[in-house]
Amino acid sequence: MYAQLVETGVTQVKSAEQLSGADQAFQRRIDDGIKIEPKDWMPEAYRKTLVRQISQHAHSEIVGMLPEGNWVTRAPSLKRKAILLAKIQDEGGHGLYLYSAAETLGVSRDDLVDDLLAGKAKYSSIFNYPTLNWADIGMIGWLVDGSAIINQIPLCRCSYGPYARAMVRVCKEESFHQRQGYDLLLAMCKDGTPEQKEMCQDAINRWWWPALMMFGPSDAESVNSAQSMAWKIKLFSNDDLRQKMVDQTVPQAEYLGLTLPDPDLKWNPQRGHYDFGKIDWSEFQEVLKGNGPCNRDRLKARRDAHAKGAWVRDALSAYAAKKEARAAA
Ligand code: 3HC
Repeated sequence: MYAQLVETGVTQVKSAEQLSGADQAFQRRIDDGIKIEPKDWMPEAYRKTLVRQISQHAHSEIVGMLPEGNWVTRAPSLKRKAILLAKIQDEGGHGLYLYSAAETLGVSRDDLVDDLLAGKAKYSSIFNYPTLNWADIGMIGWLVDGSAIINQIPLCRCSYGPYARAMVRVCKEESFHQRQGYDLLLAMCKDGTPEQKEMCQDAINRWWWPALMMFGPSDAESVNSAQSMAWKIKLFSNDDLRQKMVDQTVPQAEYLGLTLPDPDLKWNPQRGHYDFGKIDWSEFQEVLKGNGPCNRDRLKARRDAHAKGAWVRDALSAYAAKKEARAAA
């Protein structure tokens, strides 16, 4: 795949001859599967790509708490409320893990968060869609966390040590998230009323395509993939992981008795995969530009939370400074 990506010329990856001595030695370590650790020498471009991806990943986890947070007080039972609270709490922890992994690359968490609040940093497009009813909470667990698992399992084997290790714990918890989402939908589709089944069909109609967009632009349009694959940050291409998601999800949707909103979806025995319809990349680009259904709400919610939490940060900093002064006295 990587060779094909290089051919598309979307991202020029230097050949071994074009690399400097240090870069060549670095690439050999990557090719030999040696993990890169914070104290190791690394090309500045490698460090920058990791800061870019890990910070966006961390922002995604934190912003991803918002659509679900809306439904904690509206959960239909104490059990569902407890499950949803546990999931949201996990996502906050994933964000902290990932900000810590980013800090090992010499960036400050405060600066990363400031970029997010200023609207300068990306987070996953999927979290700019609204959660209109309880079925959406099931869709997020099943489809969004399901997509996240497919994208994150390979990251457990990526070349940067702290990122790979953070992903091991994250992926274990994502599996619980995906299963609880599917369990919620099973309850509504199999044991629910016809209206509840209809809510699930309406939800999958709205979430299916944005979930496929989560994997990023097509390989032909992905500006970062070729280099990220050369550096084994990305082990599979966007399209390969997207295809894996489709192949895995279609039978699950059939078991729920839901129809996926894609008339072109069809098993292709020659390929051994499902063929599926065209993704509306103009919608994806609009969401990335900030024009999705909830971009403004999400940023406002994060800015308000950050402002309301200032007193906690100030108190912690004052306590830390006092403790430091006492230790130094
Ligand atoms: N949302 C927002 N921006 C996206 C995107 C998406 N779904 N997919 C791609 N982009 C952006 C990229 O960041 C890049 O922009 P940049 O150069 O300004 O950073 C541009 O579109 C081109 O995309 P590329 O494919 O060239 O970029 P990458 O090589 O970085 O691939 C990615 C994109 C596959 C998302 C990769 O960054 C990745 O694997 N990230 C780690 C996983 C992650 O962040 N997942 C997000 C969801 S987290 C989550 O779901 C939480 C769970 O608990 C629910």
